[in-house]
Amino acid sequence: KTVDLEVTTTDKAGHRHYMSKEIAEQPGVLANALKYYTADREGRHLIEAGVDFTAYDRIVMVACGTASLACFVSKYWFEQIARIPVEIDIASEFRYREPPLNTRTLVLFVSQSGETADTLAALRYCTGKAGLILSIVNAMESSIARESDLALPILAGPEIGVASTKAFTCQLAVLAALALQAARQRGAVDAAAAQALTDQLQQVPGQVTQALAIAPQVRAVSARLARYDDVLFLGRGALYPLALEGALKLKEISYIHAEGYASGELKHGPIALIDEEMPVVVLAPHDAMFDKTVSNMQEVMARGGKIVMISDARGAARGGAGVWQQIEMPAVDGPFAAIVYAVPVQQLAYHTALERGTDVDQPRNLAKSVTVE
Ligand code: G6P
Repeated sequence: KTVDLEVTTTDKAGHRHYMSKEIAEQPGVLANALKYYTADREGRHLIEAGVDFTAYDRIVMVACGTASLACFVSKYWFEQIARIPVEIDIASEFRYREPPLNTRTLVLFVSQSGETADTLAALRYCTGKAGLILSIVNAMESSIARESDLALPILAGPEIGVASTKAFTCQLAVLAALALQAARQRGAVDAAAAQALTDQLQQVPGQVTQALAIAPQVRAVSARLARYDDVLFLGRGALYPLALEGALKLKEISYIHAEGYASGELKHGPIALIDEEMPVVVLAPHDAMFDKTVSNMQEVMARGGKIVMISDARGAARGGAGVWQQIEMPAVDGPFAAIVYAVPVQQLAYHTALERGTDVDQPRNLAKSVTVE
């Protein structure tokens, strides 16, 4: 079945960099992807994923770089909403470990380019061993798409900036839609709950538009962040892998040393590093885990640490006392907040890199597509 691609251009469309253009395109491409993958009120999908999630006991997800962090975010959705176990691995480890597989295992590869050498090798290892080889790609004419049993497009349009932005959020949108399909098929949610979750997912493009509108706040924080040499990112739940992505983006394009940690791991190591010279970016939507995150922030502040709190108005009112910098996001309820919070994470990296004068679209030593091992 063919799909009408909403064409996005390959010029900079008036932006200074491809990265900023691709960040700005997200509401449009996300709306497009969700239009195809989420059921309408009659339960119809424009793209029928064609996956029977009741045929598998577990999902093994394999990818590299930012794509592997999209897998990691989606593990929270597949496990919490669809109640199907998910293992995630980076392709360079998976391929040489040669893990046992059987026909009750669905293996899922996520790749923007569809040509990453390690991901492709991992896929080839699975051929003939797993129940289904599913890939989620941006480039449908790629080796990974061709060699999969089933390839699903993320519909992001061409991504030129080396640092992945719109491909990441479109990967998340498609994975979220698949998690909802899996939840329905496996009877993990009833019809009303499934519809409520679909409604929340369909609100994401509008929330991303609102998140883009707070760029001036993010820019102001970036101007301060740019003078530090080390930054820590913290998050809980699906925001934990997003903290890893925030650290990855910042180091990739601004060359600031950054690490991401699960907030709950703070005491098990990184707290030893806390001082006024290492800002801590906390991804803290006002969700069920919010109070726990606030107590982690207090532990940091009690040791002289500087907190950049990314939250919403309710979060700022309840937990904002004493923080160094605040970024106020729109209120985002439900499990898909990680998609919306990707926007300030990307903008923080982008504007910090601009402050430091680095080459945003062509960071040193990095390639858009790593086709050699
Ligand atoms: C490179 C790129 C990253 C990307 C990763 C995986 O490291 O710089 O942006 O996330 O490869 O690429 P893929 O095309 O497989 O998603």
